[in-house]
Amino acid sequence: MRLALFGPPGAGKGTQAKRLAQSHGLDHLSTGDLFRAAIRDETDLGRRVTALLKAGELVPDDVTNGIVAERLAALDYGAFVLDGYPRTVAQAEWMVDHLADAGAPLDAVVSLRVPDESVVARLSRRRTDEETGAIYHLDFNPPPADVPAERLKHRSDDEPDAIRHRLEVYHAETAPVEAYLRAHVRFFEVDGTGGLDEVQARIEGVLAQDRGLAGV
Ligand code: AP5
Ligand code: MG
Repeated sequence: MRLALFGPPGAGKGTQAKRLAQSHGLDHLSTGDLFRAAIRDETDLGRRVTALLKAGELVPDDVTNGIVAERLAALDYGAFVLDGYPRTVAQAEWMVDHLADAGAPLDAVVSLRVPDESVVARLSRRRTDEETGAIYHLDFNPPPADVPAERLKHRSDDEPDAIRHRLEVYHAETAPVEAYLRAHVRFFEVDGTGGLDEVQARIEGVLAQDRGLAGV
């Protein structure tokens, strides 16, 4: 199965992508995680994108498509869930063509619908375990007591100004991608509010109902 999760910052794309990867044996490909790893490793790519991520600006399309192409080839275009990609119309057009050429079109895009107020509440108290990649929320999904506090990081783009800007960028550049995706890929909209298990059940529900999906 080849999926993409779509939605605003803090919609739960990373949280649910990890769960889908686990339940369906998919590789999880998050462009944000790839950029953050490059920043941590101080690679050329990392140096190029540090300021963009911190400010909540998008990385240029050619750079982003390039890193996705590299990762998809490494996965042999097998079974994967894309998280945070595509998020411009140019990326979506490139992706649909690239996956068609590879004979590996997406089976579905699942869009998580969450209002802006919830996004702010979610991101301002998110913590990420740098060692395992686990995503927590201090109130909604607290880290287990045995995870050392120094491992739990607050993302630099989860500061109030950056959150506000990421939401603006989402509405201006990413929300319009929905129309393109609806025209080219099976597109499902899921209510992303409620508990983590509840949202997962909704996603699994739409995927299971769509009997055309390979591997479901
Ligand atoms: P990226 O890392 O993709 O960030 P994002 O899209 O802004 O999304 P987030 O990771 O903040 O949120 P999420 O939807 O994954 O939610 P999560 O599961 O963590 O991108 C970062 C940056 O990289 C971009 O700004 C850009 O600079 C660059 N970039 C990345 N992709 C790019 C691209 N394609 N093109 C150009 N540039 C790109 O959950 C959030 C919080 O909510 C957590 O605390 C979690 O525990 C909690 N939570 C999750 N689900 C629930 C629930 N149901 N109820 C309550 N709380 C919940
Ligand atoms: Mg994420």
